Amino acid sequence: MRVRVLAGVALLTTLTLAAGPATAAAPTASGHAPSADAGLRAFADRAGLRVGTAVDMAALAGDPAYRTAVAHEFSTVTAENVMKWESTEPQRGVHDWAAADRLVDFARAHRQLVRGHTLVWHNQNPAWVNEQDLTPAQLRAALRRHIVDEVSHFRGRVWHWDVVNEIFNDDGTWRDTIWLRNLGPGYVADAFRWAHQADPRATLFLNDYNNEGLNAKTDAYYALVKQLRAAGVPVQGYGVQGHLAVQYGVPGDVLTNLRRFEQLGLRTAFTEVDVRMPLPADPIKVQAQAQGFTTLLQACLLADRCVSYTLWGFTDRYSWVPGVFDGEGSATPFDENLAPKPAYAALRDTLALAGR
Ligand code: G3I
Repeated sequence: MRVRVLAGVALLTTLTLAAGPATAAAPTASGHAPSADAGLRAFADRAGLRVGTAVDMAALAGDPAYRTAVAHEFSTVTAENVMKWESTEPQRGVHDWAAADRLVDFARAHRQLVRGHTLVWHNQNPAWVNEQDLTPAQLRAALRRHIVDEVSHFRGRVWHWDVVNEIFNDDGTWRDTIWLRNLGPGYVADAFRWAHQADPRATLFLNDYNNEGLNAKTDAYYALVKQLRAAGVPVQGYGVQGHLAVQYGVPGDVLTNLRRFEQLGLRTAFTEVDVRMPLPADPIKVQAQAQGFTTLLQACLLADRCVSYTLWGFTDRYSWVPGVFDGEGSATPFDENLAPKPAYAALRDTLALAGR
């Protein structure tokens, strides 16, 4: 779709660029571009991309301005926490889908797709999932049950699943988790097969952080995906979380990395983008932040099969960052008062250029 749009308006793009810097409101071949306040999703639609956010369910219920912005700005949503195993099955065999169902219903009402996050992780598992009480065989059965139950519950209503999350260390070795220790690395292939059986139409992703560019971790993913695809395992997407920090910059080879996974037959997606900074903010950090957001967005728009770009929260009012990184924050495109920062305009204008 994106390719078709771009090819169709090549001449117009040339004219627009010659006329000076683009603004969000410039006309396009198929009429007029969305007005500057139309929301990111309007611009993303024209660019053939889905744009999303992680959603904090307490905020969605209790903060009308937050709720309005989620609906207005985004064409996909991801549950920040409520689809994780500790939320969906707090006690063995006792499911609680209520919060996750509310998100899926919200998405449907606002014509949004849902990214399911996440089925297999080393964090936020229920307390009853532990190595003291369960044997390896019981852990395997519990994991299978969990995946089949959750994917079946949302069958037909979840677009992408982050099937396995953060399975490698930054040096490319396997992360030491309850799953690796008890099931061995074959748990990854099993998880994809079980998820695929439960919903053959959902697109199934690997997902991680520090996997934007070429490095030891992404080499490990590349080797694993090759092996899984050769074995017929239904791994279909490579998710790049995109948790950046202005003090560390952005790798220069993001597009090259996306392309090598696309060449293995995968779709790609940015799944959790934010760009934190040491506080207090200043104009250079704010500018670097805008560049961080747009560098990843540009890579997605330049790639052939990058299908979505998701923010890990869109407002500093609810961001996870200050609670985890001491002295850092301001990581999202909207401040605590839901006022847009320069990063917001940068994202919107990049999408506007791609949609011409
Ligand atoms: O639900 C409890 C609540 O009952 C309790 O009173 C409160 C007290 O601390 O904690 C609440 O749980 C918190 C949970 O979020 C829900 O709000 C946890 O403490 C807190 O640790 C947890 O943090 C989440 C984190 O994953 C856990 O690892 C963040 O919100 C969430 O943004 C973050 O998301 C992850 C992605 O899933 C994977 N990639 C990295 C990303 C950022 O860490």
